[in-house]
Amino acid sequence: MKKIKKAVFPVAGMGTRFLPATKANPKEMLPVVDKPLIQYAAEEAVAAGVDTLIFVTGRNKRSIEDHFDTAYEMERELEIKGKHKMLEVLRGILPDHVNCVFIRQSEALGLGHAVLCAKPVVNNEPFAVILADDLIRAPENPCLSQMVDLFNYQHCSVLGTETVPKADVSSYGIVDGTEVKPGLMEVSGIVEKPAVKDAPSTSAVVGRYILTPRIFELLEATERGAGNEIQLTDAIAELLTEERVLAYNFDGVRYDCGSKLGYLKAQVEFAMVHDELGADFRHYLTQLGIDTKDNVVKIAKR
Ligand code: G1P
Repeated sequence: MKKIKKAVFPVAGMGTRFLPATKANPKEMLPVVDKPLIQYAAEEAVAAGVDTLIFVTGRNKRSIEDHFDTAYEMERELEIKGKHKMLEVLRGILPDHVNCVFIRQSEALGLGHAVLCAKPVVNNEPFAVILADDLIRAPENPCLSQMVDLFNYQHCSVLGTETVPKADVSSYGIVDGTEVKPGLMEVSGIVEKPAVKDAPSTSAVVGRYILTPRIFELLEATERGAGNEIQLTDAIAELLTEERVLAYNFDGVRYDCGSKLGYLKAQVEFAMVHDELGADFRHYLTQLGIDTKDNVVKIAKR
């Protein structure tokens, strides 16, 4: 089995839940403290050994390309002004060995279709998919690294999952299966956004996938499903009739940055443990009457 070297970032969605903030700016460029969501996702992929980032983009997404490109004038300006620290930050967004590829998804036909758009670049290799609005904090060992370790050992597709409240199952791809060991399930079924009464479990896929290339042929044959879109979940349901698929409850905390509340939680918790800002931010919270002491220990640890 080949190593995971490529990651696909579907970023063509409109981000309507964040309007008007996302009218002219992609939702993936919304910052958490000082970094846009898409940069956290890219860093997670690079930390897991990925060297080719494949962004499947749509209209109004040019700023994502600009973000990962050299900002020549800005660099020059910072150099002249002797702002070396900021210059380092700018130049360090991605390491030199990492390449970015941008593919335009001309029609918004769903997540499955977005992933299929990456086929000509991924070719016949296993690859990762990261949904940037699922921001996962796992400082010890990032989520995708955990999944890559599992893939290298098990040589099969791996879905990043977490247990969600029963009432929320209709927002996710929900898996069914047999527990192999705590936190690891052999998947026997998966269904996209089921009604609460039809959900096979409360184990939800949360924006991290490692998939074998067979998924592309299955996606080509996948018809429109939930929401009249070509669903990645439906192709995975086919995949698991042919190959082993595992669901892995990663160690880490996921913030649903596709929702305003989840995004605000990420903002607060990332700020509380931020290297430069953390102390001042916690002081501010204390002034508001919020006791931060126990929480900081909790957030830093988990
Ligand atoms: C997508 C997937 C869904 C998955 C979710 C995770 O849904 O279709 O299976 O559980 O991401 O965030 P979306 O949130 O794009 O509607």
